[in-house]
Amino acid sequence: MATVLIIGASRGIGLATVNAALEAGYSVRALSRSASAIHFYAPKLEKLDGDALDRDTIERALVGVDAVIQTLGVSPAPELFSGTRLFSAATRVLVNAMEAGTVRRLICVTGFGAGDSRGRGGLLYNAALCLFLGRVYVDKDLQERIIRRSRLDWTIVRPTILTNGPHTGTYRVLVDPREWTSGFISRADVADFLVAQVDDASLLQTGRTANSTSHRHSRCLQSSKTERVPRTRVLLACRSLPCALI
Ligand SMILES: NC(=O)c1ccc[n+]([C@@H]2O[C@H](COP(=O)([O-])OP(=O)(O)OC[C@H]3O[C@@H](n4cnc5c(N)ncnc54)[C@H](OP(=O)(O)O)[C@@H]3O)[C@@H](O)[C@H]2O)c1
Repeated sequence: MATVLIIGASRGIGLATVNAALEAGYSVRALSRSASAIHFYAPKLEKLDGDALDRDTIERALVGVDAVIQTLGVSPAPELFSGTRLFSAATRVLVNAMEAGTVRRLICVTGFGAGDSRGRGGLLYNAALCLFLGRVYVDKDLQERIIRRSRLDWTIVRPTILTNGPHTGTYRVLVDPREWTSGFISRADVADFLVAQVDDASLLQTGRTANSTSHRHSRCLQSSKTERVPRTRVLLACRSLPCALI
């Protein structure tokens, strides 16, 4: 089984992805500044404390790895409001290191509203995103651009609003921009999708065909109980958007 490097592994989607990858049988190298604080042990889990902005750390972390899942996030304050360069800077370091080495597969979490999904979440979602996360998403735009222009085999994953709900495995993967709409998805379901991409080439964009339109290969993830959930239910969910963002 492949070895997966997860960057941003100590909390949230990253930690859920560590769990999901181990369950799927992968060897996992978990990188974050406080990876050693991950509260469980497993024979196939290696915890690596380090900063994603540091080139030496990333080069060391890539040794012997087959795929990379990047799930970095910023703390609620002050970066959330003052803006951040973490996403673009860390992604530049990562992409440069991967292009100089042998690891080609990159799966990266950004968010619904980044890149060409901006303005597609409906009035309330768009307004909240602009108000609370506008500065952060400017950097996520840049992060996506760096990935799209790379020579890597990449998949950009844009979850809608995250919850700490359970793994259901019944989320929707919306590829067609005409279907993109805001909604909710649990971190555990995002993790499920990320891990499934490690050995699934059907949704990746390869740097060698970077001329093709990127939106066809960017993912918008949204949870639903079944594939046939009425659209109105999704719109109802939007009403609690401000609470869900907190
Ligand atoms: N909240 C939402 O509704 C929503 C919706 C769509 C997308 N997203 C995006 O989803 C992503 C994950 O969010 P989340 O809430 O699940 O996770 P999170 O709690 O924000 O966790 C972020 C992770 O990044 C790590 N990290 C931060 N800076 C680092 C650095 N310099 N070097 C190494 N690791 C670093 C943190 O670990 P250390 O502190 O230990 O380094 C942590 O493990 C974020 O990009 C977020 O913007 C969120």
